[in-house]
Amino acid sequence: MKKIAVLTSGGDAQGMNAAIYAVVRYALKSGLEVYGVNRGYKGLIEGDIKKMSAIDVEDILHKGGTVLKTARCPELQTEEGELAAIKTMRDNGIEGLVVIGGDGSIQGAARLSRKYGIKIIGIPGTIDNDLAYTDYTLGFDSAVSVCVNAVNQLRDTMSCNDRSCVVEVMGRYCGDIALYTALATGAEAVVVPEVGLDIDKIVGTILHNRSIGKYDNIIIIAEGLSPTCHGAAQNLLEQIVERIPGINIRPFVTGHIQRGGNATVQDIMLGIQMGEHAVKCLLEEKTNRVVGIANNVIFDEDVQKALGRKTPFQQHLYELAQDLVKY
Ligand code: ADP
Ligand code: F6P
Repeated sequence: MKKIAVLTSGGDAQGMNAAIYAVVRYALKSGLEVYGVNRGYKGLIEGDIKKMSAIDVEDILHKGGTVLKTARCPELQTEEGELAAIKTMRDNGIEGLVVIGGDGSIQGAARLSRKYGIKIIGIPGTIDNDLAYTDYTLGFDSAVSVCVNAVNQLRDTMSCNDRSCVVEVMGRYCGDIALYTALATGAEAVVVPEVGLDIDKIVGTILHNRSIGKYDNIIIIAEGLSPTCHGAAQNLLEQIVERIPGINIRPFVTGHIQRGGNATVQDIMLGIQMGEHAVKCLLEEKTNRVVGIANNVIFDEDVQKALGRKTPFQQHLYELAQDLVKY
C-alpha cells in the first residue's frame, strides 16, 4: 500500500479533526502518501482531493467541525455515484480509504468495499453515540459537555425565578446525550426514545417537588422523541402546561452548538488513537473494518458484524438518573 485517502462525512463531530491529524501524520511517518477528500463522498465523486502534508493538519487537534468539510451525499447511493467515487480512487492510485463518520457514512464505505473491493476502514464520528459496536463515538463527550454547560447556565436563572425548563438535546434516536446530560446536571427528569414519554410521571415529579417548596425543574428530552427529530421540547412543554395550568416553564433547544467549540481531551485522545489504528489496519492490508473502543482498548472489527450489533440501552444509568433526584 502506497497511497491512502481520508474523508469526513455526515454530521460533523468534535474529534474528527484529531482523527484526520493522526491519519495524516501517522501515514506520512509510515511512508504513505495521503490525500484529503473535501466534503465527504461528494468530493470523492467529484474528484475534489488534495495531497496532504504534515503542515496541513497543524493546530487542528482541538477544533470543532472538520477541516476536510463534510456533506450528506445521496448521490453515493446510486450506481453512477459509486462508479464516480471508485474512478477518483483508481485514477489517483489510491488503494485505501479511511472514512470518519456515523452509521450512514460507514454503511456507504462498506458498500464500496463489498461491491468494488475498495480497502476501507471506518472511524466512528458522530455526536449521537449510536453505533453499538463501540463504547464511544468521536464527538459524544464534547457534545455532552456543551449540553451540561448550557443546562448549568439555565439552572442559575431558572432556579432564582422558580421556573422550570424543558431542554431538548440532539442524538437522533439514541438517548445517550440526554441521559448523560441529565445525570451530570442532576436534572429532575429525562426522556429518551429507548423508554418513551411517561407524562404522568413527569407531572407527578413536578407536583411533588412543588409540594416541598421546590419550583425549578430541568427536564431533558432527546430530540428523537419526535419522529422528525424536531419539536420534542415544545411538544412536551405543551403537555405539561395542559396538566399544570399556570406553571412557569420555558423550552430550550440546544441545537447545533452541540457540534461546535473545542473537543474535550477525551475526544482528542480518541481521535488520535483511532486515526493511528486505522492507518495500521491499512498497512496490514486489513479491509472492511471499523475501529472502536471497548473497555478503554482500541480495536478493529469486521464492518458488517459491527453494524449488525444492537445498541444496549444503559438501563442502570436511566434508573440512577431518577433515583438520585428524588426528594
Ligand atoms: P451519518 O454518517 O452521520 O450517519 P448520514 O446517515 O447522513 O450521516 O450518512 C452520510 C452519507 O453516507 C450519506 O449522505 C450517503 O452518502 C452515505 N450513506 C448513508 N447511508 C448509506 C447507505 N445505506 N448506503 C450507502 N451510502 C450511505
Ligand atoms: O447525527 C448528528 C446530528 O447532529 C443529529 O444529532 C441531528 O439530528 C442531526 O445530525 C442534525 O443534522 P443537520 O446538521 O443536518 O441539521
